[in-house]
Amino acid sequence: MGKILKLDNVCYRYKDAKPDEYVLKNISYEFEKGKVYAICGKSGSGKTTLLSLISGLEKCEEGKITYDSKSLNEMDLDKYRNTCIGIVFQSFNLLPHLTAIENIILSMDISNIKVENKRKRAIELLESVGLNEDKGNRRVLKLSGGEQQRVAIARSLSYNPQVILADEPTGNLDHDTENEILNIFRELAHKQNKCIIIVTHSQNVADNADEVFELCKGKGMKKEDKQEEKNNNNDGKEAKKDKEKVKEVKKENNNNKQQNNKKSNSKKKK
Ligand SMILES: Nc1ncnc2c1ncn2[C@@H]1O[C@H](COP(=O)(O)OP(=O)(O)OP(=O)(O)O)[C@@H](O)[C@H]1O
Ligand SMILES: [Mg+2]
Repeated sequence: MGKILKLDNVCYRYKDAKPDEYVLKNISYEFEKGKVYAICGKSGSGKTTLLSLISGLEKCEEGKITYDSKSLNEMDLDKYRNTCIGIVFQSFNLLPHLTAIENIILSMDISNIKVENKRKRAIELLESVGLNEDKGNRRVLKLSGGEQQRVAIARSLSYNPQVILADEPTGNLDHDTENEILNIFRELAHKQNKCIIIVTHSQNVADNADEVFELCKGKGMKKEDKQEEKNNNNDGKEAKKDKEKVKEVKKENNNNKQQNNKKSNSKKKK
């Protein structure tokens, strides 16, 4: 099956919090490959915390997270982060004085991936997110926000992870660039069978995801019913159409009445 990541009753509170002050409470879900997931929720609801647990940056002490049926608590987390999980941060986390290509090669070096020609592979990855070699040779500092975000995505793909976690990846981008970045994520899920988990405040991102969740601080994660939402929207559209039809019929009736009145008036005059 395509299930790759399982959260099983995950609870989390920061060390300096009060004993009952949980950020995450009883979060359970199985994420599949081939899908884009959006996790929404108010600021402070625990979205970044959840990504930190999934990426092994924070340790899950209550409940269990498994990747490909192995508990994270039993895995070498550095290796896990450098091979299984790609992370895309809102602030990109690129080294600004290195070129885009150098950033990607560095990531391949850290993950110890065996690639014959790392430079060639870096250029291919950049091309897959719509950046040519010229841009690849430019220092990241001299790329636009949208371009830097593409480099960050290309870098997260450099060791071919199955899961990509993205924290507010379009938070600083305009609507069109957001759509372009979303298309990259959708292609990665639907054509390359990756599991993409995006934390976002953007309704546009949520609308374009395959599954959407709402996270509530200390309360858990609720799955939103996209089908119902669609139906509601469709119901709304149908209701609007019906109202318009009623208006048209009324207008026609009025016109007919007016014409009949005119006719009977002219007959009376005669
Ligand atoms: N290192 C930390 N130590 C203690 N508390 C923290 C720490 N990091 C976050 N928190 C607290 O945990 C809660 C959840 O924070 P988190 O960063 O996960 O929220 P978020 O949903 O990502 O918010 P935003 O949308 O603003 O990024 C907040 O109340 C925050 O203050
Ligand atoms: Mg956050």
